[in-house]
Amino acid sequence: MATVKKTTGTSKAPRKNAAEASAELTAPTSTATVDEGEGVRRRDFIHIATVSFAGVGAVAVAIPLVSQMSASADVLALASIEVDVAAIQPGQAIKTSWRKQPVFIRNLTPVEIEDANKVDAASLRDPQTLAERTQPGKENWLITLGVCTHLGCVPLGAASGEVKGEYGGYFCPCHGSHYDTAARIRKGPAPLNLAVPEYVFLSDTVVKIG
Ligand code: FES
Repeated sequence: MATVKKTTGTSKAPRKNAAEASAELTAPTSTATVDEGEGVRRRDFIHIATVSFAGVGAVAVAIPLVSQMSASADVLALASIEVDVAAIQPGQAIKTSWRKQPVFIRNLTPVEIEDANKVDAASLRDPQTLAERTQPGKENWLITLGVCTHLGCVPLGAASGEVKGEYGGYFCPCHGSHYDTAARIRKGPAPLNLAVPEYVFLSDTVVKIG
C-alpha cells in the first residue's frame, strides 16, 4: 500500500501502463519498503534500548537516594533528647547538647520572670514575650539554644558564676551581645533572640527536646 501511495503521489509523472506500474510495484519499490521497515525497526530498537537504559539508570540512581533517606540509628538517636530537670533549682541553669549544639535549660526565679514580663515586647529588636518563648504553666522553664545569633559563639550565663550581662540573662563576650532573662537580645550586634528549640514536657520534670 505504501508503495502505491508513493507512485500515485507524483501527479505530473507520465502515466504508466499496467506492466510498468506492475514493475514499479514489485522489485525496486518493495526493496525500498523493506529498507524503510528495517530502518523503522532499527530506530525502534534504538528507542527501546534507550528507554531500557534510562530505566536502569533511574533504578541505579533511586537506590542510593533511598539508602541516603533511611537515617541511621545514631542519627535518629540525636534527633531528640530527654532531660530530667528536677535537680535544676530556681536561678540555676544547665548546658546540655542536642544535635551537636549547646542547649541552655534555665529555671527562672519569680523575679527573673517579672523582669522579663515588664518589658514591652514591641520595643524589642526581636519582639517576643516570655510566654511566647515558654510553654503554658511552665513559664519558669526557659529552654534555648546556647548559640549567639550574631556569629555563633556560646554565650555565658548558664554555668554558676558566669557573667550574665546587663540584663541578667546571657552575655556573649565575642562581640558584646546581652540577652535578658527571657534570652531576648537587648544590646550588642546579635540580631535575634536565642532560638527556642521544639520541646515537650513528658512529665513534670522530664522534657523531650526535638
Ligand atoms: S558571636 Fe555573639 S556577639 Fe558576636
